[in-house]
Amino acid sequence: MSQTHEQPTTRAFDAAAAGFQDLGRYLWEPIGAATVAATAPQPGERVLDACCGNGASAIPAAHRVGPDGLVDAVDLSAPMIDELNALAGDLPQLRSHHADATTWPADGYDTVQSALGIFFFPDMAVGTEWLIGRARPNGRVGLTIWRDGAMEAAGHHLHAAIAQVTGTEPPKRPQHPIFAINKADAYRSWLVERGLTDVDIATHELRLPMTPDIAWLVITGSGFVGALSALSPADVDAVRDAYLTSLSEQKVDELDATTLIGTGTTPG
Ligand SMILES: C[S@@+](CC[C@H](N)C(=O)[O-])C[C@H]1O[C@@H](n2cnc3c(N)ncnc32)[C@H](O)[C@@H]1O
Repeated sequence: MSQTHEQPTTRAFDAAAAGFQDLGRYLWEPIGAATVAATAPQPGERVLDACCGNGASAIPAAHRVGPDGLVDAVDLSAPMIDELNALAGDLPQLRSHHADATTWPADGYDTVQSALGIFFFPDMAVGTEWLIGRARPNGRVGLTIWRDGAMEAAGHHLHAAIAQVTGTEPPKRPQHPIFAINKADAYRSWLVERGLTDVDIATHELRLPMTPDIAWLVITGSGFVGALSALSPADVDAVRDAYLTSLSEQKVDELDATTLIGTGTTPG
């Protein structure tokens, strides 16, 4: 099943796909592993991994379900799916799909999981309800989001650096419904409103050391890279220098990358 969306989010993740793996061991993989530890797929089960990227949660889920199970890993970015296929190796139970998770039609999954994906949906509530509807009755759902404040320092210093290099104003903080639910209590209530029971919110604390290499990988290996897409190579170099200088001057030596992993059960 294939679908292409030339939307800014998709283009940003297409561009990030190459750097995604380099950043993965610091960021995506620990978060993916924590997500799968929370959803705990069992041998032989069927799992939907929505917004799978290059497989940080889909690959460990595939190992857990084993050859008698199935993981459908779905992402809108074709380069991400290519990276996933290259990384997964010989895991016949892992099936990758270049498709939109918000219209993915199959259902009856034992587990539906999505790490750091639901806030990209055009309508976060409707898209999340669609995902929850892909699980069987009494199925498990695990949805991971950034906790309030996570990743913000990188975005702040990046946008300030771009503004400095291009002589423009930094963008205002975008309005987005995720900012209303990125604390544990609000997230719990929101998942209950989406129809889940036995909702639990686990906080996965993570801090990245902001060495120059990792600090720049945070940009080139994530959706932040989309902010560089209109810049010339020389301007990208200048933005990198300004960003690293700004982090150093403000003594930002750590990046909060803490997530909230919300799990729950679908109605019987
Ligand atoms: C921050 S990345 C997370 C990737 C992966 N889950 C991980 O934790 O490493 C978000 C991913 O969501 C994908 N995405 C965004 N909207 C999507 C949609 N409607 N359907 C499928 N994938 C989507 C992007 O292409 C991107 O790969």
